Amino acid sequence: MTYPVDMSVKADVSAHFDEATNTITYIVKDPDSDHCAVIDSVMDIDYAAGRITYVAADKLIAEIQERGLVVDWIIETHVHADHLSAAPYIQDKLGGKIGVGEKIMVVQETFGKVFNEGTEFQRDGSQFDALFKDGDTYMIGGMQAFAMYTPGHTPACMVHVVGNAAFAGDTLFMPDGGSARADFPGGDAGELFDSIMKVLSLPDEMRLFMCHDYGPNGRAIQWETTVAAQKSDNIHVGGGKTREDFIKFRTERDAQLSVPKLIIPSLQVNMRAGHMPTDKDGRPMLKTPINGF
Ligand SMILES: [Fe+2]
Repeated sequence: MTYPVDMSVKADVSAHFDEATNTITYIVKDPDSDHCAVIDSVMDIDYAAGRITYVAADKLIAEIQERGLVVDWIIETHVHADHLSAAPYIQDKLGGKIGVGEKIMVVQETFGKVFNEGTEFQRDGSQFDALFKDGDTYMIGGMQAFAMYTPGHTPACMVHVVGNAAFAGDTLFMPDGGSARADFPGGDAGELFDSIMKVLSLPDEMRLFMCHDYGPNGRAIQWETTVAAQKSDNIHVGGGKTREDFIKFRTERDAQLSVPKLIIPSLQVNMRAGHMPTDKDGRPMLKTPINGF
């Protein structure tokens, strides 16, 4: 298998863990320049109060400014259902292009219906600066990166391979965490298995960075592993488990899971590239569809 990036480049990765949502945001930097990308940023919300703050994003911005970095890209691995993206806030302060998978259009179509959005809500991905197709390449300074289409958790999921580091989004969790759910609208357990196999066909030594970690069985939070470790130890797909085993397990498990606490605000904001929806008078306002999920 050949890939469109130089995987010997040692991407410089800095991780920020968000305790409120168990999300890991990354700054990934070209080792030979000051250019970087931000992957899966978080905007803080107190949903009960309808209050938005930027503590996590400000910390990230402070690090980028202290290190004197140039932001080329602000990437979303997918439309998250468990936290809100701070992409536009970061773009405002630091620049950079906001990118997501082109299948965002499918997600916008699906949730445009769920939230009964009007025609002013565009379903063409135009809220984002760049829409990635499978295999699309891009640059972070002089470092090559590419997007790998990995549907299953959602229809717009992509894994981003940057030098010797891959950002797994919600395809995989740490080996003892397994995999993400596949029961959201447009999700599919079989597709998720195939996508995971695609990720695990990357070189064994490829570093894999998770989007989430929940510290299963009381262990400390971790986010970095390798393809080799996932292939041998992942509790949902490792050690030669079959596609059929996975579909059965995943479907039964997903039926037991409750709806993510922040799914309603997250989807409305993230399908708009991190922008708040507004009411007819232009005020930021969220909807709650009753029995919509
Ligand atoms: Fe997700």
